[in-house]
Amino acid sequence: MTTTSGKEIILGVTGSIAAYKACEVASLLVKRGVRVTPVLTCSAQKLVGPASFEGITGNQAVTDMFDSGQNQEIEHIAAATRADLFLVAPATANVLAKAAQGLADDWLSTTLLATRAPILFAPAMNTNMYGHPATQANIATLSDRGCHFVGPDSGTLACKTVGAGRMSEPACIVERSMRLLENSDDLKGRHVLLTSGGNHEPIDPVRYIGNSSSGKMGFAVAEEALRRGAKVTVISGPAEVAPPVGCKVIPVQTAQEMCDAALLIAPGADVVIGVAAVADYRVEHPMTEKHKRNGNDLTLTLTQNPDILAAVGAQKKNGQITVGFAAETGDLVENAQAKLSKKNLNLVVANQVGVSDSGFGSDTVRAIFVDASGAVEELSLQSKGDLAHSLFDRITAILA
Ligand code: CTP
Repeated sequence: MTTTSGKEIILGVTGSIAAYKACEVASLLVKRGVRVTPVLTCSAQKLVGPASFEGITGNQAVTDMFDSGQNQEIEHIAAATRADLFLVAPATANVLAKAAQGLADDWLSTTLLATRAPILFAPAMNTNMYGHPATQANIATLSDRGCHFVGPDSGTLACKTVGAGRMSEPACIVERSMRLLENSDDLKGRHVLLTSGGNHEPIDPVRYIGNSSSGKMGFAVAEEALRRGAKVTVISGPAEVAPPVGCKVIPVQTAQEMCDAALLIAPGADVVIGVAAVADYRVEHPMTEKHKRNGNDLTLTLTQNPDILAAVGAQKKNGQITVGFAAETGDLVENAQAKLSKKNLNLVVANQVGVSDSGFGSDTVRAIFVDASGAVEELSLQSKGDLAHSLFDRITAILA
């Protein structure tokens, strides 16, 4: 069961033309029983007044860090501590840059630093500003730190350009907020095991065959499982990012090591998810001494690694859920269906690789759920954290 009633949200409003839509966001949140503390930056106040937010929320809008009478220099810490969610809608390029850098020069940016609540940004800006490498780098930094994003949508913007940058619809922002507020105990008492990252298959003591898996998707899945109260074990091959705090990490290098660990732990797991980009082949006879360049070409014989998920699927116990990720460049659904039956899985997340906004290393992903009942659901481009959220909604539905 989930409940969001009585939860508290700080609604940060910054100086985008979409600021007027923040009133509707506030109104929809209040209708869902959430207590909303509005915070308006100076620029936001040039576009929309605090009185509207005060009327809608019944709470005093925070407008000035040093407004005597509001005692806000103390209150910003109190509100940041109390909040269950910090929503910034609309979020300008400026506030994203400040948050990414840790700047604290007004109430909103100061409180963003002080809060320990989840943070959700709803970006809204001109297409070129959104696409600028600086903004994209700031979004990547904030995503890596665990911040959530909703939108932006594409369409005709206030500046008459067409493209990405329009703030998501208020209803959509509120739905995302509700999900982040939900009580997260639906995996309490469950053990989630996942493989994550890539593999290094040795050629000799100093060289290996590897792939470009960043580990971001696996760790997003681990984080979501932790948020829902699960005990989480991650068998992690080499990764670029750090695992979330709270999970048990078993570091491995090769596919065989990953397989041995998975087969050992899987019998005690309720859910096994293969997020790892497993090396399908290894060097048959890795050299024990460093190979010296000797003027000749080098031929390596590769031999197949075990299929870890198929091996787990073959010993699957009653009620256990197994899930695979299928990174594909084409025929996503057909390939996912084939893997679903071959590996005895309940669900496959087919994700598009080979495009810039999805796949290895990117922060966003285009995915399709294909399940054992034959259902196919195509998801919109979204962050890896959001995909993990939708994935566990599916998994908990199957477990129930
Ligand atoms: N997988 C696995 N062991 C392997 C290969 C893949 O456990 N040796 C898992 C992955 O973690 C993923 C799923 O199986 O969850 C699908 O992986 P993918 O690489 O897409 O499929 P393969 O079975 O390797 O098939 P192919 O590479 O030919 O598409």
